[in-house]
Amino acid sequence: MSFALVRSNSSERYRGFENDFRDISAYIESLEAPVYPYAVDRELASRGKEVFDNHCMRCHGSYGEKESYPERTIPIDEIGTDPVRLRALPVVYREGLKKSWVGEYGKLNTVTDPKGYVAPPLDGIWATAPYFHNGSVPTLWHVLHPEQRPVVWRRTEDGYDRERVGLEFESFDRVPRDIVAPAEKRMYFDTRKFGKKNSGHTYPNELDEQEKRAVLEYLKTI
Ligand code: HEC
Repeated sequence: MSFALVRSNSSERYRGFENDFRDISAYIESLEAPVYPYAVDRELASRGKEVFDNHCMRCHGSYGEKESYPERTIPIDEIGTDPVRLRALPVVYREGLKKSWVGEYGKLNTVTDPKGYVAPPLDGIWATAPYFHNGSVPTLWHVLHPEQRPVVWRRTEDGYDRERVGLEFESFDRVPRDIVAPAEKRMYFDTRKFGKKNSGHTYPNELDEQEKRAVLEYLKTI
């Protein structure tokens, strides 16, 4: 909706969209996260909940019976994920958004100088690969193993990886040289490109392999 705020759409034209936007917004608000459709090891998941509550909850909140969501913004130097998205929206632009429909004409408490990224709620996270704001990490296993994230990867047609929870993909050292057609090149996610870094969010390094395994199982259930 905010992308419709381009100059070539006059304010009159934009106002004409607003009833539709309200309906779309209400519809989105009404959606519930889908339940993971494959097998879950409940015992492992419940151990994972404990690990999650000790290491992840302070930023991502809690799920299940006692729900909470702290909406914390983590400074860019700490989170260390790709900074382009943060810097691409200057404060004056965010102030413009605040005054527009998306900020309910200034009525919403809009942060115009966030200095980092919000730790998002993780409801239905199994279904929303690829991960991080730029979609640079194909599975939750790779979120949990920062050093092993693929540098260049390409998802398979429509494969879902139940082991690593996320997109099934092939990994490459570089985009193959014989791929030149832009439409085909775009199928490769090259994390060395501008705005596409897969770095940062190294908090899972506090966990040992068993704890990671348990958290991965738990993440299927929230
Ligand atoms: C200090 C705060 C903090 C802690 C602790 C933390 N995270 Fe995060 N997490 C973030 C932020 C901020 C992002 C968004 C990063 C981005 O998109 O650039 C994020 C993103 C994620 C994502 C990707 C979300 C998406 O929609 O793409 C997952 C999954 C995740 N965290 C899981 C975890 C798990 C599991 C733990 C505990 C082992 C954890 N996080 C600990 C702050 C934190």
